[in-house]
Amino acid sequence: MTTNEIREAFLAYFARQGHLRIPSASLVPFEDDPSVLLTIAGMQPLKSYFMGADTPPRPRMTSSQKCFRTNDIDQVGHTARHLTFFEMLGNFSIGDYFKDDAIRFGWEVSTEVFGLDPERIWITVFEGMDGVPGDDEALEKWVELGVPRDRIQRLGEADNFWKAGPTGPCGPNTELYLDRGPSFGPEGGPAVGGDRYLEYWNLVFMQYERAADGTLSPLPAKNIDTGAGLERMAAILQDVPSVFETDGFRPLIAWAEQASGRRYGADGRDDRALRVLADHGRAMTFLASDGVVPGNEGRDYVLRRIVRRAVSEAGHLGLPPDAVVGLTGPVVDGWGDAYPELRDRAAEVRDVIGAEAEQFARTLTQGRRLLGEVIARSEGTVSGEDAFRLHDTFGFPLDLTLEAAQDAGLGVDAEGFERLMGEQRERSRAGGAADGASDLSERVALVARESAPAEFVGWDDTVADTRVTAMEELGDGTALLKLERSPFYAEGGGQVSDTGRIDGPDGGAVVVDVMRLGADQVLRVRLEQGHLPVGSEVTARVDGPRRRQTQANHTATHVLNWALRETLGQGVRQAGSYVGPDKLRFDFTHRGRVAPETLVEIERMVNGRVDEDQPVGWEITDRQAAADAGAIGLFEEKYGERVRVVSAGDFSQELCGGTHVSRTGEIGPFVITAEASTGAGSRRIEALTGTAAVAWLRDRERALLDEVAARDERIRELQSELKRAKTTRTDVGGLAEQAVTIGDVRALVAQVEAGDMDELLAIADRLKGTLGDGAAVVLGAASEGKALIVASLAPGAVAAGLSAGAVIREVAPVVGGGGGGKDAMARAGGKDPERLPDALAAARAILTAPRGA
Ligand code: SER
Repeated sequence: MTTNEIREAFLAYFARQGHLRIPSASLVPFEDDPSVLLTIAGMQPLKSYFMGADTPPRPRMTSSQKCFRTNDIDQVGHTARHLTFFEMLGNFSIGDYFKDDAIRFGWEVSTEVFGLDPERIWITVFEGMDGVPGDDEALEKWVELGVPRDRIQRLGEADNFWKAGPTGPCGPNTELYLDRGPSFGPEGGPAVGGDRYLEYWNLVFMQYERAADGTLSPLPAKNIDTGAGLERMAAILQDVPSVFETDGFRPLIAWAEQASGRRYGADGRDDRALRVLADHGRAMTFLASDGVVPGNEGRDYVLRRIVRRAVSEAGHLGLPPDAVVGLTGPVVDGWGDAYPELRDRAAEVRDVIGAEAEQFARTLTQGRRLLGEVIARSEGTVSGEDAFRLHDTFGFPLDLTLEAAQDAGLGVDAEGFERLMGEQRERSRAGGAADGASDLSERVALVARESAPAEFVGWDDTVADTRVTAMEELGDGTALLKLERSPFYAEGGGQVSDTGRIDGPDGGAVVVDVMRLGADQVLRVRLEQGHLPVGSEVTARVDGPRRRQTQANHTATHVLNWALRETLGQGVRQAGSYVGPDKLRFDFTHRGRVAPETLVEIERMVNGRVDEDQPVGWEITDRQAAADAGAIGLFEEKYGERVRVVSAGDFSQELCGGTHVSRTGEIGPFVITAEASTGAGSRRIEALTGTAAVAWLRDRERALLDEVAARDERIRELQSELKRAKTTRTDVGGLAEQAVTIGDVRALVAQVEAGDMDELLAIADRLKGTLGDGAAVVLGAASEGKALIVASLAPGAVAAGLSAGAVIREVAPVVGGGGGGKDAMARAGGKDPERLPDALAAARAILTAPRGA
């Protein structure tokens, strides 16, 4: 059975059992479900039905749901089993049938629809825990269907109790396993673990809801949620060693083999790259077709990561970065029937992935340069800090650092790198913990409460003489610190936090983060020397160049917002933004793509406002006055009665808390680098300003020039190929037969085809060779509006009194030109190619005229 047939057989079976076939929901979960970044199971889009909050269209449903799990991303490629994206087949009952039917359906599908050998099927059931009894009911049902008791095992909470997340619907489950035989490991059933017993289906008896404190309460109804991974099912039914050998994945692997000339199965490292390309290629196509756009946060970051990893693995196979775009083809072909959105958005998906691949290629170039510097100054070993910084700040993969270091005869402190990665994971885990305040944020709140709110002076100043009002060391070389007056901007309204320095009489520190707590802020600093105790007088200094670039980008977003509304209509609403020193990103509501010529117009309008060098200023005013004056911004957000309005000239007024340049001219050149969709009805523009814009244009120019040079080279090759083809095409033997013999002379006059003089000479040479010592050859050709004539005489013909020079002098004027040469060889060019026959007739007359003895 092919993957498509398996999917269809499953859904058709359940449709026959009264289930409604529901299409897969998007990989992007509904807005009211913040518990996951991406859809992780078939039950996820149905959660509100399980909870009793909504009524399902039918109590019995079945689906093949697009799923994505991020927990094992790094494992993909290293094993033959891990996938990020997968399809989950499932059947669901909302308060309709329960254990009996669910188990019976599971058995029938396994043994009748899929034809698995009942002797090889093993079952696990829940053994029980505090408050939930062991599942004897399920066990007895399996026995009733004919499964021997010794192939049914009881397992605990980790294996046989399923929950959609820390909170929400959950319940005991029973799982179906296939025994793959003794060559895969020891006997003993799923309880012994290992590769021999492969789980292929999970039937969940969803009957509890778990609260944040861990307590279970019964759901309004008893439900069924089952999930079978389609890829694994295909591997089983097609009897292949791994999912990568199933019919679904083979075209993807074949594509990468073909593009790279490598073979799956020939080399372990290549195999890993091919598996990553197959998995990530499919995953990125599905993610992008559900509107995910590569970015730095959340699911956007997931997509960025997999595109980037695909690009570096493609690089390992010798493929250029944008080659990964080619992977979308076999995905659309293979899955487009089952998931039509793949076809609908194929072009857009290619754009999104191509843009990210290119951007990453630039990152790699920059990373390689930095890596070069790091290698140059490293002695013996590249430090873990350097490797981590390359990875963390520049997205430069450790693999590449390792390779380059090895080439330079250096080691890499991989342990140090791993330690820093671990710390970062800790930090993000702490920062991302959903339940309760994390340790760090609690400490930040405590530090904030120690003194009066910091006064933000960074709208006007980037340096401030001030005082430390609170401080707590965190023990990892960093500290939380509060200032009386702070020039440091805390991330907000899309603008990133400032970085900078704090220096006092007893010590100095680097500011690594600025945390916003309402109107107050706390800094995270890395102590460089000494200490900065509470009460010390310090100078706080924002990293100036970084801030200047950031605020140029921020003012540019306001001007862009104005230009968008002017061109696309006043209905355009800002839907999010990123404003950093590196670039700006602006999301806005708009249906359909923005036409390329409109983008050019928008870019031109922004640059026009920059040229005018209009003043940029701000004032604090009351909300009503701002609204009356026509200021735009997120009025519905929780702004106080007093609001800050930033204006640029008289054309833009926006509610905004960010920092800005003081004249539009400071923005410098503005260039739009990307335009894409971020989901239904919303678009995203990315742009650069100042030197970054110039560098980007230069890069593009260089790439274009390279491209032009490559094409020129190719044209030259083709021209000479063509010339060769023409020369050999001329039928020299046939022409030679037309020669007229007079005494010792063999005269031949003819018009032939030749592209230029060289070609004509080559033909004359070959004729001379054929005609022998008495050869007297005159050839004419018309090429590019000109007449070309060549006369070429062998020594015997010259000895007989003929002269090539004399012939040419005579006939050149006929074609409106001139020329000359020696006795043996002469040539001419003229501007009247249509008179060639006359000129050649004249030449023939000279060569064949009776000559005196
Ligand atoms: N929700 C369960 C799982 O993901 C069954 O579909 O395994």
